[in-house]
Amino acid sequence: MFASAAVPKAAPAGPVLRRPDRDRSREIMEEKMTTLDRIRKPVEAELKAFEEFVGRQFTAEGELLSEMLRQALLARGKGIRPLLVMLAAAMNESVPGASLGRRPCLAAMMVEMIHVASLIHDDVIDGSDMRRGKPSANALWQSHKAVILGDYILARNMNIGLQSGQYDLVTHICGSMSALCEGEILQSDHAARFDTTRKDYLDIIRKKTASLIGISASAGALAVGASRDRVALMRRFGEAVGMAFQIQDDILDYTASDSTGKPAFADLREGKITLPLLCVLERMDEGRRAEIVDRLRRCGEDAGAMEYLQRIVANEGGISAATGVMRSYLSQAVELLSEYDASDCRAALVELCAYVGERDR
Ligand code: FPP
Ligand code: MG
Repeated sequence: MFASAAVPKAAPAGPVLRRPDRDRSREIMEEKMTTLDRIRKPVEAELKAFEEFVGRQFTAEGELLSEMLRQALLARGKGIRPLLVMLAAAMNESVPGASLGRRPCLAAMMVEMIHVASLIHDDVIDGSDMRRGKPSANALWQSHKAVILGDYILARNMNIGLQSGQYDLVTHICGSMSALCEGEILQSDHAARFDTTRKDYLDIIRKKTASLIGISASAGALAVGASRDRVALMRRFGEAVGMAFQIQDDILDYTASDSTGKPAFADLREGKITLPLLCVLERMDEGRRAEIVDRLRRCGEDAGAMEYLQRIVANEGGISAATGVMRSYLSQAVELLSEYDASDCRAALVELCAYVGERDR
């Protein structure tokens, strides 16, 4: 794990590899367009098996619940977590074909469903009506039913996991659920007090986002019987990717664009101090900081305060400073991969790092 307060030094745009495919990796990092389809290529068959596994296992009793579950499964996102499970499994397998077995599918399903449930709950907490350009579960079914839908998904997930008898995987994966809750509680506590520091922010995003992404990568390795060291290394890799992923999410929140499929500037409206604003606040004297916090308090109902904050974050280097921190996490992630021999899966994971840093949704 990273030390909770440590902020990595700003790094050059491209992550560094020590092994022979260094140049190819740099090339990939510098390409303008990276596509998830290309990243998925080495594990296409595994991802297909995972989708079939979810379709077979994730069913519900009763007409309404079945429909709610069907919508929740249809509204899933990019599938970064199952992709990480499968690439990590394929890169760590010593028995050929192990990544096509049942354990990687189970691991991918469990991390994905924890993620799906957490976003259903998150939209209720944030009062958000839109997710991925579609109505959120709370908008479709009202908050009380959306909460139960999230609970149901977690309960089914646990049942399927325990019935599989793969207790090492279930224990490894479900251990991450408490971190998500801790991160959310910390976040809402700080948002109510407008006192988030960089240390708090990094702690929050490590818990609410990086922990599950770290577990996705390590669960893939564990699923194919990798050594403890390799499982731990994949966890550190995934956590670094997860830190970058959430920082990019927080940068995108400052971008008024249709591409995210979520309402823009939601963090400001909710009083959340995220890295782009923090980078600006840290350079201000106390008087100016107090003025900014005062505007942040008024953001929910005062469009002028909101516009002012957007402007200072953009004009005073908040976005570029946050982008620097995000890239340094990606550099750490790519550096960790240099422990592995060059392969299609390693190259795909490097490209996934590039994608995380460039994504616009
Ligand atoms: C999205 O963050 C939310 C999370 C990454 C975690 C949400 C976790 C909970 C609600 C705790 C419940 C936990 C479980 C296991 C069900 P965001 O609000 O910054 O991102 P957004 O812009 O996509 O909403
Ligand atoms: Mg949210």
